[in-house]
Amino acid sequence: MKEAVDNIKNVGFLDIEVPPTIDLFEEIEKLKKEKNAILLAHFYQEPDIQDVADFIGDSLGLARMAQNTNADMIVFAGVHFMAETAKILNPNKKVVLPDLNAGCSLSDSCPPHLFKKFREEHPDHLVISYINCSAGIKALSDIICTSSNAKQIVESLPKEQKIIFAPDRNLGSYINKQSGRDMLLWNGSCMVHEIFSLEKIIKLKTRHSNALFIAHPECEEAVLEVADFVGSTSELINFVKTNPNQEFIVGTENGILHKMIKEAPGKTLIPAPPNNSCACNDCPHMKLNTLEKLYLCMKYELPEILIEEGLRIAAKKPIDRMLELSKELGIK
Ligand code: 13P
Ligand code: SF4
Repeated sequence: MKEAVDNIKNVGFLDIEVPPTIDLFEEIEKLKKEKNAILLAHFYQEPDIQDVADFIGDSLGLARMAQNTNADMIVFAGVHFMAETAKILNPNKKVVLPDLNAGCSLSDSCPPHLFKKFREEHPDHLVISYINCSAGIKALSDIICTSSNAKQIVESLPKEQKIIFAPDRNLGSYINKQSGRDMLLWNGSCMVHEIFSLEKIIKLKTRHSNALFIAHPECEEAVLEVADFVGSTSELINFVKTNPNQEFIVGTENGILHKMIKEAPGKTLIPAPPNNSCACNDCPHMKLNTLEKLYLCMKYELPEILIEEGLRIAAKKPIDRMLELSKELGIK
């Protein structure tokens, strides 16, 4: 066991063999009760993990749950910035993540030392950062946003306010278009949402003329231009559920289909085609979490998310601002 704990530094997770005879669903339920733990999962997690979670949500919903929970341990089935946000908001809880390597290409595209310089070059700008960023970037920001509240938060600020938007250039340019602003954009992007092929989507739309194309705002501008609806993961699920249409082309990570099928049984969901020959739109970071790693991380309470207190306090300020603003603006 000691060897496996020491090895977390190298591999990012507890590398211990789980006997195949174990009923992981039953064991995870037992561990939740024993340890007064809450299991939070993002919509991009594999179906088994979503099924065993206490709450599945988008980034805003998950942050709110993490902030308000009374559980002793928060088990985060998502990526690193999400678990880190939970720890920033609720530092007295133990926060564990099944695999510390579950990062995010968007977050990685904005290193704090470069962003600090960029910010210093524009001292009259307010910094709004998408929650998909490290604690270091959050600490350099004035307000955090998610795809559920970004447009309303930007629009709540005076028109003449100069704004830097980081790290996602696609979400930033989408909001610029929607709100008529001219925010200065950091040039970051998500590897999963940038892979969709506009040409193939247009062909698919022609073949399925009754299908509505729905997309996450992390997709490229040209792809968003042909979308019938753009929204966060929870907004996309809600759209499929409530829209009378029967057929949808889904422009986001494939994990979302599990919840969509549950919420809208009988509807036809077609994953948007990527620009390569691989038929999957999986996020390689999200998919590092497995049921086995989840079980081990709950049992041994490792790997744990730890954050230096000064950085935590600085990173919390803009997240608190987002949560307050979201409340004031009535964002569900
Ligand atoms: P939301 O679930 O907040 O829409 O974010 C999507 C995403 O890419 C998370 O990494
Ligand atoms: Fe990051 Fe994109 Fe994966 Fe979301 S889908 S975690 S933005 S790499």
